[in-house]
Amino acid sequence: MKHYRVATIPGDGIGKEVLPPARAVLDRIGAHHALSFSYDEFDWSCARYLAEGAMMPDDGLDRIRHHDAVLLGAVGWPGVPDHVSLWGLLIPIRRGFHQYVNLRPISVLEGVPSPVARALPGEVDFVVVRENNEGEYSRVGGRIHEGTPYEAALQESVFTRMGVERVLDHAFALAGRRGGRLTSATKSNGIVHTMPFWDELVAERAARHPEVAWEQEHIDALAAKIVLDPARFDVIVGSNLFGDILSDLAAAVAGGIGVAPSANLNPEREYPSMFEPVHGSAPDIAGKGLANPLGAIWSASMMLDHLGHPEAGAQVMDAVRAVLASSPVRTADLGGSAGTDEFTAEVLSRLP
Ligand code: NAI
Ligand code: MG
Repeated sequence: MKHYRVATIPGDGIGKEVLPPARAVLDRIGAHHALSFSYDEFDWSCARYLAEGAMMPDDGLDRIRHHDAVLLGAVGWPGVPDHVSLWGLLIPIRRGFHQYVNLRPISVLEGVPSPVARALPGEVDFVVVRENNEGEYSRVGGRIHEGTPYEAALQESVFTRMGVERVLDHAFALAGRRGGRLTSATKSNGIVHTMPFWDELVAERAARHPEVAWEQEHIDALAAKIVLDPARFDVIVGSNLFGDILSDLAAAVAGGIGVAPSANLNPEREYPSMFEPVHGSAPDIAGKGLANPLGAIWSASMMLDHLGHPEAGAQVMDAVRAVLASSPVRTADLGGSAGTDEFTAEVLSRLP
């Protein structure tokens, strides 16, 4: 029996509703593979911020540093500015644990209608690799002359050679193991310092991966192509901002934000990696038992992959695919009438 300690951070809103399904799936598939999980739950959230003035305690990272993985629901709540919840919890974990790869698989699942007529199951299957530690999401900058006509805001991007190279290497290696194609998102026509640097490094790292055919696309044209011809992509790599936007666009093409999973990886495994659905806390449906747990369940499947149990991870996704393809059970965001628990029970019933 192999045992894993998982730190869980349900967060706010539906984050608290989608983690129990993910845990139930892990426990069930784990039992089949002689894996056991224990969960240490942390109440870090906007609720905690409102009560105690901080999203997490000062020594938060130390409390989860030695866990095998982190499973996160979602954070964010009306009344707490979104930059507070992001910079107070998610970004410190992603950066403190050098989770510099944000992986977002995009697949059109049979039975999940895409708003894009051409996005067909079995054809659309790609991965967005987002740089997760630097780039446009930086604290460098400031405001001057606030509240006057001279007011100005400056926001600096930070692109380091090491930071860009390591995420590119991860993306090229992933493309080598998958379909052998990589698309780099750029904007080197308009952004004249950081993006030409990014492009140069892409060409340099590509030379080390002759097995991968690569291209680069300006982000605006790329956004259009993801809608017009999503089946042509295999691995898309982009900076923090570009990867963030593209992965939500791609998730919408694949049928909705409630389905989309993500992994924040520390590939060197010096620190735990973190797995979380792409969606937020959905205050509009929170507390009603309506949330689609699929994004969280798929994220748990990615956690199994990362921990070295790809067969277990694949079986979770097989069960999800079977429910969607051969039963009417699905949540309201996918056009069904099932609640979170009913959908979860259906997935559990199809696991080995
Ligand atoms: P959201 O993803 O929470 O909701 C957008 C829409 O999608 C809503 O109509 C919601 O009901 C629906 N939706 C989302 N997930 C769903 C699910 N699993 N099942 C069914 N429907 C679902 O994004 P929004 O409204 O922009 O943000 C709400 C809060 O969440 C904000 O405070 C925001 O900062 C935070 N947020 C947190 C994220 C995270 O923790 N990683 C990511 C995105 C937003
Ligand atoms: Mg986003």
